[in-house]
Amino acid sequence: MAELTPVFTDRRRAESFGSVADEYDRHRPRYPRALIEWLVTAPGLTVLDVGAGTGILSAQLASAGADVLAVEPDEQMAARCLAKGIPVERSTFEQWQPRDRTFDLVTFGQSFHWVDPDVALPKLASLVTAGGRLALMWNRIMASDSTRRGLERISAEYGVTTPASTSANNAETALQALLRRAEFTVERVEVREELHYSTEDWLSLVFTHSNHVVLEPAAKTQLRARLRDVLGDEGVSATNDALALICTRSDVTPASRG
Ligand SMILES: C[S@@+](CC[C@H](N)C(=O)[O-])C[C@H]1O[C@@H](n2cnc3c(N)ncnc32)[C@H](O)[C@@H]1O
Repeated sequence: MAELTPVFTDRRRAESFGSVADEYDRHRPRYPRALIEWLVTAPGLTVLDVGAGTGILSAQLASAGADVLAVEPDEQMAARCLAKGIPVERSTFEQWQPRDRTFDLVTFGQSFHWVDPDVALPKLASLVTAGGRLALMWNRIMASDSTRRGLERISAEYGVTTPASTSANNAETALQALLRRAEFTVERVEVREELHYSTEDWLSLVFTHSNHVVLEPAAKTQLRARLRDVLGDEGVSATNDALALICTRSDVTPASRG
């Protein structure tokens, strides 16, 4: 589970998603309903969804009654988000202009690791209303152990590696420390889903990950064929340990919450 590792300096990967925007929207998972319900506590909640991509999370929040504005730098991704009826401002979060706006909720779905936390966190402190929340969310989907080991061995030959779970845990600990230093109180919410994918659906999902998207076309075709051979017709049983780090400003006392 590499999702929380900050990779924002690798702009080639950060800016790769638009080239697979349709596949991304079709194959990336939606967020568990329980997490959405946890976040949208009242109709009309104002939400800023950052790194909104094709609007997967934005649309779920809007369906639950929130009033969502998306921020997304990539043209192809933003176009799909807009097509879902979500207004989008085209920008990286670092360059985005708040223009004195504040939000009840600011969300990053699978996107906080793509922004520079040293720029993002001070900006977020003044963006969230008193009593409002910041939610950093990740769907963390892992194939069952035996399948994963076989797939990882082949992927490593193409330079596609998965950091050990210890380094993912370290990344989360480091992130929580950064959030606390930025004066956020962090609540950790996890929701587990058991999933099963057909072989083609699994491969289509995996090849929307930026470390696969940036492979040379020939390597991509070859790797996909080799993974397909290993999987056969069995498909993949997987677990999604969806994680939300839900943050409130610790400088806001309960009495001053709106
Ligand atoms: C993995 S996708 C997540 C998309 C969507 N939130 C979801 O849950 O499916 C990451 C998105 O972050 C965007 N992104 C990359 N760098 C960014 C930055 N500095 N500021 C805001 N968004 C960024 C990418 O263009 C991409 O659409």
